[in-house]
Order: sequence, then structure tokens, then C-alpha cells
Amino acid sequence: MIPIGKEFYHLDSVDSTNNFAAKLINDQICQNSAVILADEQSAGKGQMGNTWESAAAANLLSSFVWKPDNLSVTDQSKISWMISLSVHKLLLRLGIDASIKWPNDIYVGSKKIAGILIENQLEGNHISWVIAGIGLNVNQCQFETTNATSVQLVTGTTFRIKTILNELTDIINGYLRQWNTIEDSLKSDYESLLYQKGQQAVFLDTHGEFEGEILGVQDDGRLQIKVSNELRFYSLKEIQFCSK
Ligand code: BTN
Repeated sequence: MIPIGKEFYHLDSVDSTNNFAAKLINDQICQNSAVILADEQSAGKGQMGNTWESAAAANLLSSFVWKPDNLSVTDQSKISWMISLSVHKLLLRLGIDASIKWPNDIYVGSKKIAGILIENQLEGNHISWVIAGIGLNVNQCQFETTNATSVQLVTGTTFRIKTILNELTDIINGYLRQWNTIEDSLKSDYESLLYQKGQQAVFLDTHGEFEGEILGVQDDGRLQIKVSNELRFYSLKEIQFCSK
């Protein structure tokens, strides 16, 4: 796939970088790709209708936009795995060993350091545009929730947001350039980094709490959990993690 080019927007403040990206596409301002960075979001969006909170100018609030060649809607999980792997690789370069909490939260130990919100645009059964929103806690050291952490809290070092963004763009572009050779290994690379994989853990579904073991994911992105000798498959809204 063609790497993301030089179109770059650095905004002081915006509702959401993902919304800004969607506007660029809908107004036909974006040609092939763009990177959007904001110092602050007034309505940052998280998964499942949640909000994404961030102190001003402390963290990475970004969206990566590109027009993929020839990806079908069934390839959406590959994009999600690739973006999770990119954030994981970025953190490794900063000296942080993270894991991926299904589907695409990035964790250090039992604390969340980054969140990903992918809002692709579809045309028929094709992905016409990828919008990958990435929020990474970089220099913020105090959080309202107890289960959040940041690069600074983990490493003791302050980082320039723009340096982190450039590094992340290079990593994503590496995956895009090599897409044809790496697309088949994305799933197993992703699975090898899954949080709580291979451990007995407690989950909650519509029937109540149960104990099970994460084995991996299906091609469509659903989580595979082994409960006694039964294999169960879950999509995003169907399950919650209960164990730390
Ligand atoms: C989640 O963990 O629930 C996903 C959080 C995604 C947050 C990022 S910040 C940049 C981009 N713009 C948004 O409005 N959300 C994503």
C-alpha cells in the first residue's frame, strides 16, 4: 500500500481528530492520506460511545487517514491489528513492553496507556478510507481513573509529542509499504501480544461471570475464549474483562 504522505494538520484544539479526518474526506480536501495531530480535543471519542479524556498538550491525540488499495470490509480486523502492533512497536522503541488488551487497548501491566478508535469509511464491500484514531498518554502524570498510565509515568522521561508522532508515522508506513508480505502474519503477531492470553481469567457476558482462557482471535476479529472444553467467540459489545 502507498505510505502516508506529507499532508499534515496540527490543530490547537478540535472536537475530535477522527471527526476532523472524516470532514477532510467528505469535503474532498484529503487527496490520498493525511496525519492529524491536536493539542486538545473538546469531544474526544473512545470505543463504544465512551469519551477520551486528555490533559491539554500533554499527550498524543492523532488520526491517520489513508485510502487503502483494494481492501474489503472483511479486512478491517487486519487494519486494527496493524495499528495495535504499530503502537506496541512504538512503545518498545521508547523502552516500554506493552500488551494489547483485546480488541485494541494498549496496556502496561494492568494499566491502559493508549486507546485506538478505527472509523473506516466503506463503499459497498470495500474500505474506501481508513481513519485510525490513536490516543497515547505521553506526559500526563495524573489521571481521574486509577487504571491509566503514561509514557512518562512508566519511563520517568518527558517526550516531545511531535517526535513520537513522527516515529509512529514511520512505523505505520513500514507496515503499509510491506503490506503484501506481512498481511498474513498480522493475526499471529497480534495474538502473541494479547493481554491475559493463555491465563485463566474472569469475564462477564450476558449470562453472567465465568472463568475462561483467551486462545486468540477469529479472522473477523472476534475473541476466542475456551471455557472448560467449549470454545466461545465474542464481539466487542458482548463481553467484559473482570480480572486485573
Ligand atoms: C478507546 O480506548 O476507547 C479509544 C480511544 C481513542 C482516542 C483517540 S484520541 C485521537 C482520536 N480522536 C478521537 O476522538 N479519538 C481517538
